[in-house]
Amino acid sequence: MNRANVRQGSDRPPACNQISVLLMQLEGRTSETLSASVDDVGLAGLPLHVVPCDTVEEFGRAMERHRPVAGLLYFGRQITEAAMEITARLSETLPRLRLIALVEPDAAQSEALGSLINDGFIFDFHTLPIDRERLAFLLGHVGGLVALEKRVDRSNVFPHLTDGKGMHLVGSSPPIREVFAAIRKFAAVDAPVLITGETGTGKELAAQAIHDRSSFNNGPFISINCAGLPTGIIESELFGYERGAFTGALKQKIGRIEAAGGGTLFLDEIGDLPLTVQGHLLRFLQHKTIERLGATKSIRVDCRVIAATNVNLEDSISAGRFREDLFYRLNVLTIHMPPLRERGDDIELLATYFLRKISTELKMPKVGFHDAALRKIQRYRWPGNVRELISTIRRVVVMADGRWIKAQHLDFRDAGGSGRTMIPDLATARQELEEKLMREALRVNASNIKRAAEELGISRVTFYRMMEKYSIVPSAPSGGDGRSRRMGRPVRRDSADPAGQSTASAS
Ligand SMILES: Nc1ncnc2c1ncn2[C@@H]1O[C@H](COP(=O)(O)OP(=O)(O)O)[C@@H](O)[C@H]1O
Ligand SMILES: [Mg+2]
Repeated sequence: MNRANVRQGSDRPPACNQISVLLMQLEGRTSETLSASVDDVGLAGLPLHVVPCDTVEEFGRAMERHRPVAGLLYFGRQITEAAMEITARLSETLPRLRLIALVEPDAAQSEALGSLINDGFIFDFHTLPIDRERLAFLLGHVGGLVALEKRVDRSNVFPHLTDGKGMHLVGSSPPIREVFAAIRKFAAVDAPVLITGETGTGKELAAQAIHDRSSFNNGPFISINCAGLPTGIIESELFGYERGAFTGALKQKIGRIEAAGGGTLFLDEIGDLPLTVQGHLLRFLQHKTIERLGATKSIRVDCRVIAATNVNLEDSISAGRFREDLFYRLNVLTIHMPPLRERGDDIELLATYFLRKISTELKMPKVGFHDAALRKIQRYRWPGNVRELISTIRRVVVMADGRWIKAQHLDFRDAGGSGRTMIPDLATARQELEEKLMREALRVNASNIKRAAEELGISRVTFYRMMEKYSIVPSAPSGGDGRSRRMGRPVRRDSADPAGQSTASAS
């Protein structure tokens, strides 16, 4: 054969811009040890750096060395049992390498090929004789996918904030980077932190990250979930009791606050704390002392306090369910955990991260998501946030039989059939935005319709018409002085903080 144009050999580096592929001859193989050299598979003349390999192990070594975009498996006329076995082993050992079958037309019709593809062992196939243009196109496509993967997962390092104990807050979107910055800053300050955010957004993980970076990190991290516990139980859980404090108190119990001494106390779902207990907690926050139930003396406890809530505590205050004084005590430093649907590329990043993690844990290797599956993941609104993403990926890893996660493996339950769990269509989204902007414009312009309309760059008539459309009733208008108008106008960042400016120029 004419091998002149095919660059071969594992020692020769690929030329610039030339893509590498591994090649294994499977035709006529009866066992793995049968070494066959590559003769003419018709790759001559293609601008490829071809690395022939004989064994699965060689494939592994060549993969490290040459970073190929794909592995070509030359099956020829018939896909034998032995060839199928080698393919399965290759695919198990090197789950990230996309394998492309080179088959004669007969074999292309075979059930064997169908099952190799169905099981996800083979990424695609190419019918012989080689059609240079089509193969180049296929390899180009695979190369694109590989590059994309590298971008998402730079050699397995996911952007994250780690606590050194294998727990990672993964993310790189602007909102989560703000959270990372706040965690770092707040960790150094001994003041209560309030973490807000929907369920499953990582509030507890953030609390732990603060603890791990704080001066209390040698002490314990004690958490208590205040949701759904009756007053008596939560009281004794938090403050403990002495023996005989009440019927049934057979021995002394150390409460969680006391147990958190020298460490961090994490009060989860603080909004659910019964009012009487709120009073006792406030006293602890003010005096740093507690009394066990039935005790005569008080004990001093030094610990860092972090609280979390998924409800709006200001609303709870208005409704008389939460003490305002406790709120101000707790709400010294605040972190808002953004919902997953507002975290852009983080959704893909987290999905890939958990796919890798869970499939390794469960020893059910998966290569990745098909494009359509990723699109489906991105379109979903994730009402249960990261927690829901994790359980979805866990389910999918178990249920998907092949090595790729396909769109049909993902069945999102539309919670309550509200239709709000997938991204709305453009018209709905536009209307929502219009309404939101109008309300904003009215708010910052003190309900002055003329100014609100100006603010949005529309006529007063249009503004009125849209108010009717969205049933917007402005609150009592005020004359509106220049001040409220200035507030609403976008301010350029560099002029927003004159103090910051002078600091910058002074340094
Ligand atoms: N950014 C993140 N990176 C990795 N895992 C996360 C992230 N955010 C949340 N998780 C995981 O999601 C699950 C829910 O997080 P959790 O902190 O319990 O949420 P919340 O307290 O807000 O309900 C946990 O298993 C947590 O480890
Ligand atoms: Mg929680």
